Amino acid sequence: MATRAKALYIVLLGGPGAGKGTQAELLSKALGIPQVSTGDLFRENLKDETELGLLAKGYMERGELVPDSITIAMVRERLARPDCEAGAILDGFPRTVAQAEALEALLTELGSRLKVVPYIKVSEEVLLSRLAGRWTCRNCGAMYHQLFSPPRQPGVCDKCGGELYQRADDTPETQRHRIQVYFEQTAPLIDYYREKGLLVEVDGQRSISEVQAELLRIIADDRRR
Ligand code: AP5
Ligand code: MG
Ligand code: ZN
Repeated sequence: MATRAKALYIVLLGGPGAGKGTQAELLSKALGIPQVSTGDLFRENLKDETELGLLAKGYMERGELVPDSITIAMVRERLARPDCEAGAILDGFPRTVAQAEALEALLTELGSRLKVVPYIKVSEEVLLSRLAGRWTCRNCGAMYHQLFSPPRQPGVCDKCGGELYQRADDTPETQRHRIQVYFEQTAPLIDYYREKGLLVEVDGQRSISEVQAELLRIIADDRRR
């Protein structure tokens, strides 16, 4: 396997609705490395009715985490592909300490390491308002918000003309549960990465472009180290 010593692996931390997907997509374009979103990977598998998709279905519908073993195996397979040789923006992974440890071991195996972990910080109230207004393009995955970044025409994607839909796990009850699961199982990763000296806090309650500019600044700083 080619050496990945110079590859740029970045983990975006943040609660459901913090803007991980929105920012990961922009970073991926700006940096020319893929966005690896475990939520998107599970949703694609669900759509294609694969064995993995069927395994993940119930957990996702309830707003619970898919078991670590399944998630880690999926990420291992994804990161091994050649398009991740120059790095990847990890969005929604890791979400437990066990996943973080597995990621560290995997990157070591690949001859690399994590470069930086931006934590997109957003209050619980704002998380809920973001999730409640989110619309996603069924065709290209572009994300909109009915108040904060509405499409030009309701229900239609600006980029590709595709149909916009609301995610099945974006019911008020599941949203609240996802936020609770985040605080219980994922928020401990904030201290985990802080102790490793990788965490950089980003105020996520600003405009999408302001958050993006700061993320790019943090990544550029880190590259100079
Ligand atoms: P996943 O798809 O990862 O969902 P999530 O963590 O709940 O996060 P979201 O995708 O809801 O939020 P986001 O931070 O990406 O925000 P977005 O950019 O969309 O996971 C879904 C499920 O899959 C999990 O519940 C679990 O079952 C399973 N799963 C996934 N990964 C797993 C793992 N590692 N282990 C186990 N299970 C796993 O933004 C939200 C909205 O806000 C959008 O409308 C956007 O337009 C808007 N917005 C974004 N930024 C701003 C801003 N700065 N200002 C105003 N509006 C903004
Ligand atoms: Mg997302
Ligand atoms: Zn689209």
